[in-house]
Amino acid sequence: MTTQVQAPGTTGGDEGTAGLPTLADFALDPEVRHLNHGSFGTVPRPVLDRLAALRAEMESNPDAWWRTLTGRIAAARAEVAAFLRTTPDALAFVPNASSGASTVLASLRFPRGARVLMTDHTYGAVAMGVRRVAALHGAVVDTVHVPLDASTEDIASLFARKLGSGAPVALVVVDQITSPTARLFPLPEIVAASHAAGARVLVDGAHAPGLLADPLGHASGADYWTGNLHKWTCGPRGTAALVAAEDVAQELVPLVNSWGAPNPYPHRFDEQGTQDVTGWLAVPGSLAFFAERGGWDAARARMERTVTAAQALLAEALGADLAGVSVHEAPAMRLIPLAATLATDPDRAAALQRRVAAELRCEVSITSWDGRGFLRLSAHVYNRPEEYEYLAERLPALFAAAEREAD
Ligand SMILES: Cc1ncc(COP(=O)(O)O)c(C=O)c1O
Repeated sequence: MTTQVQAPGTTGGDEGTAGLPTLADFALDPEVRHLNHGSFGTVPRPVLDRLAALRAEMESNPDAWWRTLTGRIAAARAEVAAFLRTTPDALAFVPNASSGASTVLASLRFPRGARVLMTDHTYGAVAMGVRRVAALHGAVVDTVHVPLDASTEDIASLFARKLGSGAPVALVVVDQITSPTARLFPLPEIVAASHAAGARVLVDGAHAPGLLADPLGHASGADYWTGNLHKWTCGPRGTAALVAAEDVAQELVPLVNSWGAPNPYPHRFDEQGTQDVTGWLAVPGSLAFFAERGGWDAARARMERTVTAAQALLAEALGADLAGVSVHEAPAMRLIPLAATLATDPDRAAALQRRVAAELRCEVSITSWDGRGFLRLSAHVYNRPEEYEYLAERLPALFAAAEREAD
């Protein structure tokens, strides 16, 4: 393949059409190709400026700062709730999706012997929490194996079968968009089957804000939902939302005991000790930034176009067959299956990811799931086709060398 390769910091292609943000709008190192937005996100420059201004205000008079916080947090919460198409009374700020999931798990009292259901795509750190809390209550963790190519009907019947056999299921924990496998799970069917069996549902929507126009609509009446605002909505780190149904919301208390405790949900989450909440106050700026710079629909369409082309390009370069991964693909994150000897476990996947970063100066995600390795590509609005072309030219040789070493 012959490709015109541009330096990563230069602009090209249809950059800037519809006013969408470009790489220059972010503080990302232009010498690196950032093709893994999904892991940590990044913050637009105007929001970084706003964050710095808020921090300066906080440090200029901490007493005055803490006196004003309640109203300012409530205003920010209302803006995030409107973006997520819910009401401010349903939404609490939490530092991250891990914290949102942990808050829900800590609020539950599972009957001894009850089951907690998750899938084999559940985010590793959340799965660890589920196991720990279940063990505290003498509950049993059961796992639904969801094949990569399972159809909606397959997934619904896999859940229905698990829910209908064995001890009652108290809680189902399910990812909206999965991390190791970049699937968009069919939540309406999963939530309906779970509720029909009397189980509550916690949706881990870590990747959903920004990627889905209506993540809570898609979560379809789940009892609890948590999502990161620092990923695809490009909010500051430490910004995430927890949304609870009205009938269970008042059971939720923050993980940190503090002065807000006597307040009703969600207000009691506004005060969790002396913490830096500048991210919560600045995150509406990220939502507005994309709304004003071409709009969220255009941003999502751009991400989808970019990642779809990138996936096809990399699959061709690596000789990978996409047939098994083409069902329920996430928006803006795509898998390319690797050779059978690569990234066969998470440690090997992490080592290969480090090698790609060091040798190619490309940040990508290499995941390992069910003994198979995958290249997980992300595309945000600042990513350009030339970056994936650069990767496609160099990755086959790097992977071939890694395969030889694995023999
Ligand atoms: C599906 C899923 N859940 C939870 C998390 C945890 O997010 P955080 O580290 O912000 O808590 C992630 C992070 O990538 C994720 O992909």
